[in-house]
Amino acid sequence: MAVQVVMRITFLLLLTYELAEAAAPIAKPNCSDSCGNIYVPYPFGKTTGCYLNDWFKIVCNETGGSPKAFLPRIGMEVLEINITDPYNDQYFWIDPGLVRVNMPIVSSNCKNRSSRHIGGVNISGSPFFFSSYRDRFISVGCDNLALMTGINPMVVVGCKSNCIDKSMIEDSELEYCSGFNCCMTTAPSGIQVFNASFRGIKEENKTSEECKFALLADDKWLNSRTKDLSYYVQLLEYVPVVLEWTASEFTTLDPKELRRRNSEEYSTDYGAEYYYCLKGYQGNSYLSTGCQDINECESKTLNNCPNKSDCVNIPGSYHCNKPKSPVKPKSPVEIAIIVICSSLGALFLFAIIWCLYSDDAEDNTMV
Ligand SMILES: *[C@@H]1O[C@H](CO)[C@@H](O)[C@H](O)[C@H]1NC(C)=O
Ligand SMILES: *[C@@H]1O[C@H](CO)[C@@H](O)[C@H](O)[C@H]1NC(C)=O
Ligand SMILES: *[C@@H]1O[C@H](CO)[C@@H](O)[C@H](O)[C@H]1NC(C)=O
Ligand SMILES: *[C@@H]1O[C@H](CO)[C@@H](O)[C@H](O)[C@H]1NC(C)=O
Ligand SMILES: *[C@@H]1O[C@H](CO)[C@@H](O)[C@H](O)[C@H]1NC(C)=O
Ligand SMILES: *[C@@H]1O[C@H](CO)[C@@H](O)[C@H](O)[C@H]1NC(C)=O
Ligand SMILES: *[C@@H]1O[C@H](CO)[C@@H](O)[C@H](O)[C@H]1NC(C)=O
Ligand SMILES: *[C@@H]1O[C@H](CO)[C@@H](O)[C@H](O)[C@H]1NC(C)=O
Repeated sequence: MAVQVVMRITFLLLLTYELAEAAAPIAKPNCSDSCGNIYVPYPFGKTTGCYLNDWFKIVCNETGGSPKAFLPRIGMEVLEINITDPYNDQYFWIDPGLVRVNMPIVSSNCKNRSSRHIGGVNISGSPFFFSSYRDRFISVGCDNLALMTGINPMVVVGCKSNCIDKSMIEDSELEYCSGFNCCMTTAPSGIQVFNASFRGIKEENKTSEECKFALLADDKWLNSRTKDLSYYVQLLEYVPVVLEWTASEFTTLDPKELRRRNSEEYSTDYGAEYYYCLKGYQGNSYLSTGCQDINECESKTLNNCPNKSDCVNIPGSYHCNKPKSPVKPKSPVEIAIIVICSSLGALFLFAIIWCLYSDDAEDNTMV
């Protein structure tokens, strides 16, 4: 009987241990969570019942070499999907879900380019927004003034490039695309349309006849293509761009439910909301399983305890138990100081008491 109880408890302990160790799910139960090497977290999904709604439906084409994922509702190929990464310290407070897609380059008057994608992209009404902190607006061309169109007409976004004097353009940070045949600027936040118009610099009312390109591109991708960007752009039809995805139009989690899921809510400056795991938790805020505590002690990189056996995992964090240092015997000098100090203290106290006593005595004599 006693043996049975002990075995039961051990089993339960093992079970809870296993549960704690299992990674929090990112997709709904019985749903595939990947397409090739692309993670497909909920609200994205591949089959009916696995995605939140049509906007998040992923079509995975597994015929041919490596599987390719598509978002058919916005007509783009998906390269990567991210639910918020709680260890992204750099962008922690603006760390929305991201989806990296292949977006067509807009071109004008380029003779040997296919005319399929000359027109730009409009994803208005979708839960996806071009990411202003990750994407850059780029234009390639000579005598070129490129402006973004289809955005709020009160906002003018664009840049100028020419091919006259390379030495005139010296900017250490943006050297590779700072005005010589190529220019770059930041993208406004909350936009869902990408299109561009091109003009000449000298005659601003004249549409240019030269071949020009405009694109939005992922900053991280650009950093790996810093050299000859203007050359690459001519060879490519699509470039990776980052979209922020939101779900506030479709899901609402009240504060109590958010706490239960160890999640928080963030409102973007363009009025959409998204959810993310509290720091120290991982999982998927959009699933009822929510986010679960990360055991930092099990990781080589997430804790800085000198000795692993001193690491104690706590919800959302960890701490290192300080190794107990033996009490050092006091040196003769320390003992001498202590004796002198306490003697002085006693003397001081004595003096005060004596003063008070004599004051009292004087008062008494006055009466
Ligand atoms: C998942 O699939 C198993 C077996 O196919 C089934 O028993 C279970 O009910 C399914 N769970 C859900 C949530 O659909
Ligand atoms: C899937 O990819 C293959 C090869 O890339 C292509 O031939 C096929 O048309 C694609 N299927 C769909 C449904 O897009
Ligand atoms: C997605 O997360 C992975 C790590 O989990 C990171 O390497 C990658 O850069 C992230 N993608 C985007 C688009 O932020
Ligand atoms: C982009 O602009 C061009 C020229 O102004 C226009 O013909 C095209 O319809 C626009 N595309 C979108 C998606 O708005
Ligand atoms: C984008 O599409 C929406 C509807 O889907 C439409 O109302 C809007 O005018 C379009 N914007 C542009 C610039 O074409
Ligand atoms: C372009 O602007 C110039 C002056 O800036 C003007 O003389 C000319 O008529 C304009 N051309 C057109 C086609 O509007
Ligand atoms: C256009 O075609 C010509 C000849 O076929 C080629 O030399 C040139 O590189 C092409 N340009 C672009 C931008 O593809
Ligand atoms: C780590 O702690 C264990 C047990 O407390 C001890 O035996 C071991 O020497 C410690 N190792 C280091 C490197 O301090």
